[in-house]
Amino acid sequence: MTWNPSSWRTLTAHQQPSWPDAAHVDAVTAEISSLPALVFPGEIDRLRADLARVADGHAFLLQAGDCAETFTPNTEETVREKLQIILQMAVALTYAAGVPVVKVGRIAGQFAKPRTDDTETRDGITLPIFRGHIVNDDAFTAAARQPDAGRLLRGYHQSAATLNLLRSFTKGGFADLTQVQAWNLEFVEAASEGQRYKQLADEIERALRFMRACGIDTTGASSLREVDFYSSHEALILPYEEALTRRDAVSGDWYDGSAHTLWLGNRTRQLNGAHVEYLRGIRNPLGIKVSDNITPADLVALVRHLNPENEHGRITLISRMGVNKIANGLPPLIDAISAADLSVAWACDPMHGNTFRASSGLKTRNFDDILNEVKIFFAVHRAAGTWPGGLHVELTGGDVTECLGGSVGVSEADLANNYTSICDPRLNAAQSLDLAFRVAEFLDA
Ligand code: TRP
Ligand code: MN
Repeated sequence: MTWNPSSWRTLTAHQQPSWPDAAHVDAVTAEISSLPALVFPGEIDRLRADLARVADGHAFLLQAGDCAETFTPNTEETVREKLQIILQMAVALTYAAGVPVVKVGRIAGQFAKPRTDDTETRDGITLPIFRGHIVNDDAFTAAARQPDAGRLLRGYHQSAATLNLLRSFTKGGFADLTQVQAWNLEFVEAASEGQRYKQLADEIERALRFMRACGIDTTGASSLREVDFYSSHEALILPYEEALTRRDAVSGDWYDGSAHTLWLGNRTRQLNGAHVEYLRGIRNPLGIKVSDNITPADLVALVRHLNPENEHGRITLISRMGVNKIANGLPPLIDAISAADLSVAWACDPMHGNTFRASSGLKTRNFDDILNEVKIFFAVHRAAGTWPGGLHVELTGGDVTECLGGSVGVSEADLANNYTSICDPRLNAAQSLDLAFRVAEFLDA
């Protein structure tokens, strides 16, 4: 079957909203098609090259951000705080472990959510399920839950604004290593991670001073002043992705201009499904979420299908098994990929396999489960002789109380204090920094 940006339409697309007005979807996607792409082929190609270094064991991937971004609040502050915590984690990993870190946000487009059920019932009332702000609203009213294609356009514009701010921060001086102290978030400073970070920042400042004293111009070097920060989201709402798919005039290749990299969810990765068909034709590097419910043979077939040339940096396998399943679930997948001689980067999502409901009904995760899944991920890869290449986490720069534990000791009774996620529970800034320091230790071991 020959590929084109709409060839997925002949196949079954799971997890699509029931749009009430198909003509409205067509009108909105036609408008998005006429608007500029959000990211450009050169950047996408550079990320693929960076991920090839991860696949080859010479760099580490940090992919982090919200479970689901929201239309409101989306302020300069919320964007900056997310960037700050990711930069802090990247510094901890780079400095403590001495490996380059590829920085990818679940940001500037991470709006759509796959769901187990199509509907939700509360007090005898049944409404369409919330599918993310690019589809409907999370409030439990019939009007809010009605899918609205106008949200696709709003998602595009919010992504553009967020990316614009991120570019400005990361290329305009905010990410300069001389600013390393300034990224410490106020409410983290007092916590033990904040103190540990302060020490590390002091060391970096001393090292920079030393280099300047040796005659090296540390203010002129763009490598010290800027970072490459990439965007990503789950490729879920296919008409939106199709509308942003553009052909590069120089190479003639197709790129999804909605984000630098997209991932394929655990629920939409059917070999003969619409999502796989769409993704196989674009040049963007791809993530694939894998749980222990995929067989080694099916995984090999899927990777071959999406990367027939076995190109380095094209595929990142993101395992999300849960702390109790990874030790047995991951090795057969690694063995099969290695035996088939397929080039992939391996990353660990220690969030999605460790979710449960607290007695209050709030969804949560234990910091210790998250940490232990990462620990086992490293041990399994060390035993297999493969490179534990990355971490994929849900976090926010804020002082939320959504995941249990950590040095700040969030307890079940604390969860309701500042639970603002509209979907899955995220690590707060202190928990995120703590995790980064631990992972740096695993990398350094
Ligand atoms: N450009 C380098 C990098 O991205 C060094 C660097 C500059 C950096 N600012 C940073 C690293 C902020 C981590 C965080 O790795
Ligand atoms: Mn999630």
